[in-house]
Amino acid sequence: MMSNTNSSCSQPTKFNLVQVKGAWTRQSEPCQLTEGRLSDANIYENKSDHGVSWTVVSPIVFTYRVIQCKNILDPSNDTLLWGHIGDEEVKGTLSNSKPVKRFVVIDETVNQLYGSRLRQYFEAREVAHKILPLPTTEENKCMELVTKILEEVHEFGIDRRSEPIVAVGGGVCLDVVGLAASLYRRRTPYVRVPTTVLAYVDASVGAKTGVNFAGGKNKLGSYVPPVATFLDRSFFQTLPSRQISNGMAEMLKMALMKHRGLFELLEAGGRKLLRAKLQSCETSNSSKQEDNATALMRIAIETMLEELAPNLWEDDLDRLVDFGHLISPELEMRVLPALLHGEAVNIDMSFMVYVALQKGLLTADEKDRVIQCMLGLELPVWHPDFTLALVQKSLKERLRHSAGSLRMPLPTGLGSAEIFHDTIEDNIFCQAFQKWTDELSSSWNK
Ligand SMILES: NC(=O)c1ccc[n+]([C@@H]2O[C@H](COP(=O)([O-])OP(=O)(O)OC[C@H]3O[C@@H](n4cnc5c(N)ncnc54)[C@H](O)[C@@H]3O)[C@@H](O)[C@H]2O)c1
Ligand SMILES: [Zn+2]
Repeated sequence: MMSNTNSSCSQPTKFNLVQVKGAWTRQSEPCQLTEGRLSDANIYENKSDHGVSWTVVSPIVFTYRVIQCKNILDPSNDTLLWGHIGDEEVKGTLSNSKPVKRFVVIDETVNQLYGSRLRQYFEAREVAHKILPLPTTEENKCMELVTKILEEVHEFGIDRRSEPIVAVGGGVCLDVVGLAASLYRRRTPYVRVPTTVLAYVDASVGAKTGVNFAGGKNKLGSYVPPVATFLDRSFFQTLPSRQISNGMAEMLKMALMKHRGLFELLEAGGRKLLRAKLQSCETSNSSKQEDNATALMRIAIETMLEELAPNLWEDDLDRLVDFGHLISPELEMRVLPALLHGEAVNIDMSFMVYVALQKGLLTADEKDRVIQCMLGLELPVWHPDFTLALVQKSLKERLRHSAGSLRMPLPTGLGSAEIFHDTIEDNIFCQAFQKWTDELSSSWNK
């Protein structure tokens, strides 16, 4: 026993990997490279009484571009075809090697609205293309859609090194296509073109893909970022107002968690921005100063990228982006399709603002300002199915999946937050729930 324990505790030997004339070989540290190429990977060798074991540490770097642009479907705009390539030389080589091919999956509704312009774009650019419209709704968000995409991609044929699959649509379309691309030939590059506000500020900028499975939301999926995301907010012009409010809830989340300026923009101009469908007005377009809509969208993306980039694989469970997402998944699934994702998130945030008030983190005045801002964005702040029993069930469920302590992001001001590793203090939640219901239940109209 003793000798086993001792030997298994021995320090592993670290090896670097060096490539000379095609062959990789191990070199123990310190590694003096006189020729060849050094890998970022390492092999650790451990000898024990049972034999030898090796541990491979091989970092994978993902690089992806998020590009705000205008007139993405204008044939003179290069972005849709080449925006994913940063290197001008590579871009030149690829664009001159004919024929260029693109496989595009587009949400059926978006196809009705923008399909003909998309076709014209590819025709004008002489791109061999296949455009596949699909009913990418939440109810259809399952593996069958993924399989359908894979069959069509396979039949069309693409070069997986230079011809990314393009997804044009809302979050459902982007998630499904992302999963298909991450499966095809073990990983094929893909591009996201979000056409809803929610997809623009949330689903398009991170690495997550997924479909619903076994009754659970996004139960199958992968962490594979796109090679690029192209953000053109002119698509919002055809969105119903409710869909705009839906996406603005996710912006409000980032505002409350970490950006007072963003909160103030939403507080002062939210209703107006909603009416304008987040488009810049003519006059401000021509002036040098950034208008409110442009500033709002830029800060929403910047704040989101700051939180996602260092934690792309969600290894760290302390995530500010989880604000509003503790109780809302249960609520959303329970009342589906009555509430949109952002609406459920907003109801959760509204309740959590009362929890923060109860804990003394927010003043009554700050709480009022947040609720008024939510109402200005035409978002629901209370729901009859958001019961105390649902709160307790969700928190317990959350506790089970978060390594023993509740990790609860809460605002500590307008634009600042902390993660609280609380135990489930029933009293705080009960008191907050009572006050929340007393003050806001009358806002509910069926
Ligand atoms: N991967 C992630 O990190 C992530 C993050 C947030 C949400 N999501 C996922 O995103 C999905 C929700 O996304 P969503 O809110 O975009 O929903 P959605 O994709 O269902 O789109 C909403 C509706 O808008 C329509 N539509 C899309 N663009 C339009 C346009 N320009 N004009 C008119 N109609 C248009 C669609 O046909 C659909 O009916 C959920 O499945 C959620 O799980 C993923
Ligand atoms: Zn969300």
